[in-house]
Amino acid sequence: MERRPLLAGNWTMHTTIAEAEALAVAIAQTAIPADRDVMLAPPFTALAAVGKVLAGSPVLLGAQNVCWEPKGAFTGEISPPMLRDAGCTLVIVGHSERRHIFAETDAMINQRVAGAIRHELVPLLCIGETLAEREAGLTFQVLERQLREGLKDIVLSGAGQLVVAYEPVWAIGTGRTATVDQAQEAHRFVRGVLLTMYEKNIATQIRILYGGSVNPDNVDALMAQDDVDGALVGGAALKAESFCRIINFK
Ligand code: PGA
Repeated sequence: MERRPLLAGNWTMHTTIAEAEALAVAIAQTAIPADRDVMLAPPFTALAAVGKVLAGSPVLLGAQNVCWEPKGAFTGEISPPMLRDAGCTLVIVGHSERRHIFAETDAMINQRVAGAIRHELVPLLCIGETLAEREAGLTFQVLERQLREGLKDIVLSGAGQLVVAYEPVWAIGTGRTATVDQAQEAHRFVRGVLLTMYEKNIATQIRILYGGSVNPDNVDALMAQDDVDGALVGGAALKAESFCRIINFK
């Protein structure tokens, strides 16, 4: 069975509510090929407004992080039911900015993945090595650790419950994309680790996105790789024109 491509826009800490609505309207108005999924992840403050814009469109709403508890004294956190209430079906977890700027650990990310799945949100688990780790030859070791710890005790009944995003930290927001060979090599490795963790029919169907300076000029070559099942896009997702070109990759 073919894996259905997912093109995901991570708006990071950008857009006012009005800007978010306008961007969502522009994206929802473009023709999206029926063979692929599209997700927008605006900041929390714009989720409800963008959710209204996307109601009735095939474009999916995602959030940029999620707490593991449904409610309680967790100042500054947003719960899975709150995201569901705003219209989200997916949520980014373990983004490198969460790991490296906000010191989120694999154990914390594992709790977030579990919390999302418990509430029927699909976690988009981000993993990726830093430049120092790549140069020290540790890429595979880091990816394997982030996968095994991030997915510790996570039982899946179907491949649709999880998305993995490989985002080399040195390629995020830097304009420096991994080569198609580097991306494919990492994705194949990730697929191999998933095959040791889950039944074959699940592991072979989990989508693995590439992220890190994806743009209209490199998306076609990246998407042509066997194990690249989509893209997690930051900067180029903030302009309707460039994101729509990415959605329409060839
Ligand atoms: P970028 O960001 O596309 O700007 O490199 C990727 C991301 O934020 O996940």
